[in-house]
Amino acid sequence: MKLFLDSAKTDEIQYALETWDIDGLTTNPRHVRDSGKPLRVVLSEIAELFHGSDKPVSVEVDPHLTDWREIVAQGRELARLSPNFVVKIGVGEGGLRAARELAAAGVRINVTLVFSVAQAWHAARAGAAYISPFLGWKEQYGDSACSLVRDIRTMLDRHSYQAQIIAAAVRNTQQIAEAAIAGAHCLTASLTTYQDSFRSPYTTMGERIFQDAWDATPGHKPN
Ligand code: E4P
Repeated sequence: MKLFLDSAKTDEIQYALETWDIDGLTTNPRHVRDSGKPLRVVLSEIAELFHGSDKPVSVEVDPHLTDWREIVAQGRELARLSPNFVVKIGVGEGGLRAARELAAAGVRINVTLVFSVAQAWHAARAGAAYISPFLGWKEQYGDSACSLVRDIRTMLDRHSYQAQIIAAAVRNTQQIAEAAIAGAHCLTASLTTYQDSFRSPYTTMGERIFQDAWDATPGHKPN
């Protein structure tokens, strides 16, 4: 399962590239707002960070757009900014009409805000390279999320669609595990969610036990 960072903050992206060698990046209008910079500035800084790699970077079109022609025009514009850029479009009739057009022209598409297998199927038919079901948002409102990833994966494999699932809005270590087991091709989460996933209280306890044993061993000086 590929590890994507969900962020538009360049310090976080740099850290994740250097420390974890992340496989790609996803952004959304919320992340861009949180970066505190204008969209074009953020996009050019991000493009620079990924320059020379083949790592995908999802950048979202204006979420107000509903007319497919306008989405296509903006999608083409975003795709021209960097060969890494994957155009992120909200699922819906207009969005998927635009996705089909852009995919046919060779622009990679990430269909976002997916909450059902049917939406994922429409996205796959439209030629999406990536499909993003939002796990955290589902669970926040009491729905099971891991079955969605599993069912989308079954649908894609059964009908030989090439689209990859990005398990998105992943909020905790449990959801990371569930997405991996359910068959997500990629996962995207915040820096802190990944940082938490390296840790376990048992690991901390075990380190302490071994440090104490080390210090009590003749010839070892306590640090
Ligand atoms: C995925 O591509 C989305 O950017 C994302 O996971 C949504 O997450 P958020 O709820 O943290 O904005």
